[in-house]
Amino acid sequence: MTDVPTAPPAGPGAVHDWPVDHLDGLAFDPLLHRLLREEPVARVRMRYGTGDAWLVTRYEDVKEVTADPRFSRALTVDRPITSMTPHAVAPPGGVGRTDPPEHTALRRLTAKAFNRRRVAALRTRAERVTAELLERMLGEGPPADLTEHLTGPLPERVVADLMGLPADALPRLREWRRVILSSDRPVADTAAVKREIARSFGGLADLRAAQPGDDLFSELVAAERAGALSRAQLVSLSVMVVLNALDQVRNQTSTMVYALLTHPAQLAALRAGPALLPAAVEELLRFIPQRNGVGLPRVATEDVAVGGVRVRAGEAVYVSYLAANRDPAVFAEPDRLDLARAGAPHLAFGHGAHYCVGAALTRMLAETVVGALLRDLPAARLAVRPEEVRWLRGTVNRGPESLPLAW
Ligand code: HEM
Repeated sequence: MTDVPTAPPAGPGAVHDWPVDHLDGLAFDPLLHRLLREEPVARVRMRYGTGDAWLVTRYEDVKEVTADPRFSRALTVDRPITSMTPHAVAPPGGVGRTDPPEHTALRRLTAKAFNRRRVAALRTRAERVTAELLERMLGEGPPADLTEHLTGPLPERVVADLMGLPADALPRLREWRRVILSSDRPVADTAAVKREIARSFGGLADLRAAQPGDDLFSELVAAERAGALSRAQLVSLSVMVVLNALDQVRNQTSTMVYALLTHPAQLAALRAGPALLPAAVEELLRFIPQRNGVGLPRVATEDVAVGGVRVRAGEAVYVSYLAANRDPAVFAEPDRLDLARAGAPHLAFGHGAHYCVGAALTRMLAETVVGALLRDLPAARLAVRPEEVRWLRGTVNRGPESLPLAW
């Protein structure tokens, strides 16, 4: 499946206006597709912020930039760098916007929580929750919205357990997720929600300080009391973990199911050889355009050559992991979903010091959801035509609004 619309050329060396338009389903951003082939280190300007920035799209260049300490996240704070959102999704001082050694110390605090052993223990819980959620869905009969019955509630329940969040926190978390991970809400709205989050998580931190539980949040509160992180860092790290789990896992696992149901030959091969599941999840991670636009930029601390282009000290640089995952120099027929693909690892979870904290958790939850599709829903199909599925708009991360299934 190619699914790549064409973008009009702007000419080499020009600053490309990147509207980051809404895209449906598995469609790939046409500007990313073209720049990757024609101008792999290009200048772009997005809707918000000021000026322009570099955009790096090739796999090798993306790996180089993200592994190079001469590109700083801390230097992005308080700079109105061109951006796809009116508000900064990641807070200053948070894990995404610090450099080593401060960043390393923050990451160490979460590493324990998300290591393979902890995630393996969570798998049993995730499988139990999945069985329970599916039983209810199957009991109610088709058609059913998978996002409402499984891919939404599963990460919510798992992350609420992991973080020791009270059950009544979930409706508010869903609302916060919608605002914080929007790409078009006014800054006043997002600022108000950020204040509310700080108050609420602050209150919970005081509670857990007095009465610690056996959860990651209590561990972070203990670290705060030991002076290892500030209250603002505690809140921003916890919120990133919770909102990412809710948003990205919901969207990604829903889109994985959509991709499989719209690639029936691939799905049939996977059903015939379920041992392929972990490799299939990796290919789905590579192939699915999980987000709109790009994530956080970096700022060069000195002049650096990237892909034959000189980036000057002080200039802002974005990398596109999505584009890198479609680099034809690394992946043969990159725009084709091929669950049997082997070879280079994808960059869907990023690369370098800021590599995604939740990668192991996401893989586990994706295997749980796709595994359930293979095992418990042998006749699953979309209950509407593929082009009738409605996709989120005005959001940072892409995914279906709902995914109506029949079986
Ligand atoms: C489909 C699911 C997910 C995808 C595709 C994804 C992808 C990414 C990417 C591309 C980055 C940024 C890399 C960079 O800044 O260069 C990142 C960072 C991060 N992710 Fe994820 N993520 C996912 C799920 C999660 C989950 C479930 C969690 C929480 C449990 C999480 C927590 C984080 C955090 C805290 C960071 C910041 C790390 C840092 O700056 O050091 N992510 N993720």
